[in-house]
Amino acid sequence: MELVVINGPNLNLLGRREAGFYGNFTLADLERRLREHVGNRAKVSFLQSNSEGEIINHIHTLTENHRLIINAASLTHTSIGIRDALSAVKTPFIEVHISNVYAREDFRQHSYLSPIAQGVIVGLGAEGYLLAADFFLQQKT
Ligand code: DQA
Repeated sequence: MELVVINGPNLNLLGRREAGFYGNFTLADLERRLREHVGNRAKVSFLQSNSEGEIINHIHTLTENHRLIINAASLTHTSIGIRDALSAVKTPFIEVHISNVYAREDFRQHSYLSPIAQGVIVGLGAEGYLLAADFFLQQKT
């Protein structure tokens, strides 16, 4: 089992982006924390991209043996292409959002991904990624 983490548009700006919603940690902090948390329990790899096509191409490389944690950021609310890619590869995935999207604008309250996700974690900051990883790791045994 290999854990794959995909972060979408603008998440490279964590640490200098709307701290009230996204906190003060950087993407590098988040990735380091998750890598340390997982330790030697699983292989983990990361992609951050601002490009929908690059995210779709990366999803195409995944198999049913991968476990995906995805924060598609703004593309969550717009991308039928990412939804179709996830449906095609059948990789179990957990959708994560750092902020509580349900406490924000209406346009953030629809997700194309949630109906086919194994689960959804919103509003728990960086912890959401760690919890998603723990879920997949405990499933292994
Ligand atoms: C986000 C929420 C999205 O609505 C937003 O477009 C993001 C980040 C989150 O992690 O809270 O870029 O996915």
